[in-house]
Amino acid sequence: MIAKEIVEEVLARTDLAALIGGYVSLKRTGSNQTGSCPFHSERTPSFTVFSASNSFYCFGCGAGGDAITFVRKIENLEYEDAVEFLARRAGIRIQRAPETFGGKRYDRTRLFEMNRDAARFFHSALYQNTPGAHAALAYLMEKRGLSRAVITHFGLGYSPAEYDVFFNHMKGKGYTEDELIAGFLCGRSERGGLYSSFRNRVMFPIIDLSGNIIAFGGRVMDDSQPKYKNSSDTPVFKKSKNLFALNFARTACAEQLILCEGYMDVIAMHAAGFTNAVATLGTALTEDQARMMTRYTKKVIISYDMDDAGRKAADRAVKMFGDVGLEVKLLRLNGAKDPDEFIKKFGAEKFRSLLEESRTKFEYYFESILSKHDITVPQEKIKAINAMCELISGFYSSAERDVYIAEVAKRTDVSQESIRQDVGRMIAKKKSAYKQQETQKIHQSAAGFADKVNADFVKNPAAARAEEAVLGLMLLQIGHRKRAFTAEINLREDDFFTEFGKKVYSYLQAHVEDEDATELLNESFSADEVGRITHMKIARMQLTDNGDDVFLESVRCLREAIAAARERSDGVTLSSLAALIDRRKNDE
Ligand code: CTP
Ligand code: MN
Repeated sequence: MIAKEIVEEVLARTDLAALIGGYVSLKRTGSNQTGSCPFHSERTPSFTVFSASNSFYCFGCGAGGDAITFVRKIENLEYEDAVEFLARRAGIRIQRAPETFGGKRYDRTRLFEMNRDAARFFHSALYQNTPGAHAALAYLMEKRGLSRAVITHFGLGYSPAEYDVFFNHMKGKGYTEDELIAGFLCGRSERGGLYSSFRNRVMFPIIDLSGNIIAFGGRVMDDSQPKYKNSSDTPVFKKSKNLFALNFARTACAEQLILCEGYMDVIAMHAAGFTNAVATLGTALTEDQARMMTRYTKKVIISYDMDDAGRKAADRAVKMFGDVGLEVKLLRLNGAKDPDEFIKKFGAEKFRSLLEESRTKFEYYFESILSKHDITVPQEKIKAINAMCELISGFYSSAERDVYIAEVAKRTDVSQESIRQDVGRMIAKKKSAYKQQETQKIHQSAAGFADKVNADFVKNPAAARAEEAVLGLMLLQIGHRKRAFTAEINLREDDFFTEFGKKVYSYLQAHVEDEDATELLNESFSADEVGRITHMKIARMQLTDNGDDVFLESVRCLREAIAAARERSDGVTLSSLAALIDRRKNDE
């Protein structure tokens, strides 16, 4: 864990509004600032930065906390990485504690160094005078058509076929077997010996946004299987949170990012001048990755392979981008299975015009509906029109809907009027369903249902609310915090009803003497939990009287609610016991 003094220093040197202002445009409202929440899509701003308490809170989605929480969420970082991110921004150097992996501890800086040394080894192995190296270089240059410049730019390499050359080199550099295994560079055979994870493969280093080499992908040079082998998660790598080549693309993607499936697609695109291309790392697009992209661009062009798997993946990605609020377009590659092949066959200029002709979400679905239904058959035509109306009813802008209605009318030879009516009916239906859903959501959240952070809330909302009042006051004022532990009040974990309440209580007990009890929250709680804790505090901040009497009264309410609950549950136990005894008697 990072020392408390350092966390304090980092927070003190971070201007929260300036930090957030880099991601969200904020407007001053009184002493606070508000803007549109970056963590959920909304039309009216409910995201607030409180200058007095150096915290933020979104009244729409419940995200909240301090600068560290904000960075954890928006940059998708773990706690310590978020502190490091802010430290770097503030010009503070921090010494990181070792990372734990498989019960052992690893130094992150060393693992990054190890990966860099490995990448250097793989890269120079391309230029050795051995048959393997010749074959690898020929594969990249002749078979895949890459220039030396491109090979150097991406740091591509070759991992020799011998099982030991690589690790002997790495051991010579001072890396331990444990480190090599934890970094997925080596594995251990059943007989206990070490072997290189990637053998006789061309190597693709994966680089994070700080320029660290975090993982590798390796491809065979023939048709053997598996075609690609990728590092699995390591102490410094999470597949689902990184994108291949985003380190290069992020400076070139102001207008749009191109998302493709493979390493080679990205490399071919960058080589052809489309340096805004990225790829997922051999997995389906994750929400973390989609959200990451929102930080660099407003629009993504999906350029997946033209096979069934590619189309399925595209459907999923379209939905995911919609959820995070990115505009999406889709590329149609005619005459090639993937972008790499297309550029090779038809050249960069053709690819550029392809980009300009990329289809909107509407066109993409429209075509997919037409490909599923033969509209020369009346029954099928009706189904197709229905599906199209359904699609159109999902668009918010009525101008946009009008354009699509005209398009459907033209293609199906049905009057615009009847299509407009159908669309209108579907919108009305959706609206009432939406309203119902919203009402249900409000009821549920009032009752604490679907409460991911505090699952126990719903079991006794009165007690849970009383808990939040007590904890909120303790968070707000060190006086209340200290008082809670005096003989007079003697607040104990037992006084709390929910697991979450107990956990927050224990945290406050450990930080009773801290002037600002919230500074280390991020160390012990998830970002969502910090949001909830922030809410407890902010809810009290907005009240005028938070004095001692109010605190005493809140504790009394809490104890009463808990006592009442105990009585009820004792009652239940007693009566069910009585029933059991009765039943036994009858049986006898
Ligand atoms: N992939 C993987 N493991 C495999 C196959 C594929 O991790 N066994 C990932 C790789 O990241 C690859 C991407 O999925 O780049 C796309 O797969 P595919 O279309 O099969 O590969 P291409 O990029 O077309 O590879 P190539 O052009 O080198 O054949
Ligand atoms: Mn390919």
